[in-house]
Amino acid sequence: MTVDALAEHADHRDTERALRAAGWTPCGAGDWAIALRSPDGATAARISPFDPTGPYTAALYREAAHTRQVPALFAHRRLAGGGDLQVMEWLRPVPAAEAAAFHRAIAGRAPEVVGLVDVVRRVHERARRELPWCGPLDDNPSNVMRAADGRLVVVDLFYADGPDLYRTAATDPDLVVARIPPSERRFMTEIPLSASGPWDEAERAAMRAGLAAADARADARAAARAAGR
Ligand SMILES: Nc1ncnc2c1ncn2[C@@H]1O[C@H](COP(=O)(O)OP(=O)(O)O)[C@@H](O)[C@H]1O
Ligand SMILES: [Mg+2]
Repeated sequence: MTVDALAEHADHRDTERALRAAGWTPCGAGDWAIALRSPDGATAARISPFDPTGPYTAALYREAAHTRQVPALFAHRRLAGGGDLQVMEWLRPVPAAEAAAFHRAIAGRAPEVVGLVDVVRRVHERARRELPWCGPLDDNPSNVMRAADGRLVVVDLFYADGPDLYRTAATDPDLVVARIPPSERRFMTEIPLSASGPWDEAERAAMRAGLAAADARADARAAARAAGR
């Protein structure tokens, strides 16, 4: 099973279904994404229904590949509706103290991570400039992992500022609708939220309804402008 075999318009559900049918098995879940492991155990697929920062993470993995302190990235593609798929080397968790020490080294630009930090800062600045919602670096201990060859790597450093973004979606959906195109947020209420959740289904439905109403208002305004011309 390769990413090339996925249909051009595959979304996160199609992708998960195709990989599971090919024998991939669940190996992790976070707030934004789930992970599946390949049948031979060497590869992991991170699948997110909605992840504006995915392209920046992929850029970090590519631009910092020479440091060997990020996972080897075998494939990256955007999924229909604003999701994100990263296929990378399989990694396992490390003890929290070891993860915290690696994050401290990054924050302090310690000698052993200078090359990595320079790429992290460059790509993060780009994400902050280009994305309407982008959080600080995510120093969650689960974001430091160990590769099969024993080296420590950092994953998933960038995240859309979820608390602010989702609060705004609930209280001022017109702002979210104005800043993120519909094709990039179709599955906004489907992120797994495995760490911070659970997320009440009624609340999800209310957010979807609020965004749909805001989309309708935006469409009506666009139609009125077009008619006035
Ligand atoms: N390369 C990988 N190998 C094994 N498990 C992974 C890999 N990447 C991610 N995971 C698992 O998937 C979870 C979610 O991935 P992560 O990229 O941290 O997304 P989130 O944005 O949800 O935190 C991680 O906590 C980890 O358990
Ligand atoms: Mg994470």
